[in-house]
Amino acid sequence: MDIDQITQIVGHISKDEGLWLSQVSADCQVLEIGCFRGKSTAYIASTANFVVCCDGFCGQKILRTDQKPVDFTEVKRDFEKNLKALGLYDRIKLYPKISELAFEEISVNHGKSFQVAFIDGGHDEASVLADLKYSDLILNGGIIAFHDYHDIRYPDVKKTVDRWSLNNSSRIKKFSSIGTIQAFHLH
Ligand SMILES: C[S@@+](CC[C@H](N)C(=O)[O-])C[C@H]1O[C@@H](n2cnc3c(N)ncnc32)[C@H](O)[C@@H]1O
Repeated sequence: MDIDQITQIVGHISKDEGLWLSQVSADCQVLEIGCFRGKSTAYIASTANFVVCCDGFCGQKILRTDQKPVDFTEVKRDFEKNLKALGLYDRIKLYPKISELAFEEISVNHGKSFQVAFIDGGHDEASVLADLKYSDLILNGGIIAFHDYHDIRYPDVKKTVDRWSLNNSSRIKKFSSIGTIQAFHLH
């Protein structure tokens, strides 16, 4: 896999974060929420057995003042084009819905089968709460990692994840962090 080709994709994760994702995803069944144009997806799919992707192609509920509106029809097209160009499209299954609405279908189709989950979808409290339901689909010993946990522009991510980890402290332990990503182990 040509990592330089992945770094060319327009997206929101750094090369270090992407390489970390490739490393933890090796030979795993991975769930990803929040794919955008497929940059994180490509790093994950470059080593994973299979990636179940969920994106509402809707953007954030509230745009930051420094952000411009994006045409998400184009984003979805780019996602598919980028993954196909890298020869990774047959290793993914896309659910083009917000995570809250995709949960039942993903649960029925894939069950509790994921070793790794990467969460980078809606950064508001309600969306993060919907994403956290997916922790029930992660196998014991698996990993769940949250992008932008360490980004102070998105305080709801850390606040909501910290409350969840505190309430489930017997099952969940912080284990690794890189860039804005915080990962947890599930037991
Ligand atoms: C920060 S971007 C993801 C960046 C991506 N991981 C990358 O490597 O470039 C967030 C994505 O989450 C999607 N999204 C926002 N709210 C969502 C929700 N509730 N469920 C699923 N996807 C959502 C957006 O459409 C957007 O594509």
